[in-house]
Amino acid sequence: MRIGILGTGNLAAALGEGWARAGHEVVVGGRSPDRAQGLAERLGRGVRAASPREVVAGRDAVLLAVSWEGVEEMLRSAGADEGLLAGVPLIDPTNAVEHGVGVLLTGPGESFAGRIARLAPGAHVVKAFHLFPAGQWTGSGGGDGAAVTVAMCGDDPAALEVVGELVRDVGGVPAVLGGLDRARQVEEAAGFVIGLAFGGHDPNSAIPRVPSPVAARTRE
Ligand SMILES: NC(=O)c1ccc[n+]([C@@H]2O[C@H](COP(=O)([O-])OP(=O)(O)OC[C@H]3O[C@@H](n4cnc5c(N)ncnc54)[C@H](OP(=O)(O)O)[C@@H]3O)[C@@H](O)[C@H]2O)c1
Repeated sequence: MRIGILGTGNLAAALGEGWARAGHEVVVGGRSPDRAQGLAERLGRGVRAASPREVVAGRDAVLLAVSWEGVEEMLRSAGADEGLLAGVPLIDPTNAVEHGVGVLLTGPGESFAGRIARLAPGAHVVKAFHLFPAGQWTGSGGGDGAAVTVAMCGDDPAALEVVGELVRDVGGVPAVLGGLDRARQVEEAAGFVIGLAFGGHDPNSAIPRVPSPVAARTRE
């Protein structure tokens, strides 16, 4: 696939590395051309740096790996308001939460993914990759190496397929929770995890081990 990555920080680096390793064509860009060039050189494997507009042009999927404060500016510089992302699967991994606390900073009932959908008319927004630390995708996340489930939300079935494939390519198992109207829920889930972790608790131990009745039936 031809993948564009907006943002040049930790998550851009981790998923860029994973997708380039899986054989995809990856282009990265952010507000700093120097940082984009530096990341492209660090990742190797043919990864290129480009302007935000070039990053989104003609891609099979675009990852918005930007701090929530920079999302509006980044989408504008990529031409999202002019429709340049129309029809493109746009992956939203952002966590618009109060740092170290986990309280969502969106308005009551609103999801950040929904806000992104309004800022990028016609884009097929898929909420994904927001729950796990970037190191999960490069094997440096401190996990036990077991495959993790990546909960996703989105309204376009084809975009969900594309993003699901990109989840598998970095060792995850995609799980579609529902449409973009469920995005607030998965964003709250990240806030819950962040709140417990920064409060000194193991978030994994705060979730019951509930077996999936569907998975059990499939095994029978
Ligand atoms: N890292 C993780 O473990 C992780 C996991 C799940 C989800 N996420 C989410 O993924 C997104 C990126 O996280 P990250 O860890 O990669 O962050 P990061 O390393 O701090 O990088 C942030 C990126 O956002 C850009 N940015 C910040 N403010 C901006 C603005 N006002 N306008 C344009 N660009 C701006 C930065 O550009 P400059 O370099 O020019 O400042 C940089 O490219 C965040 O929304 C985060 O919540 C991160």
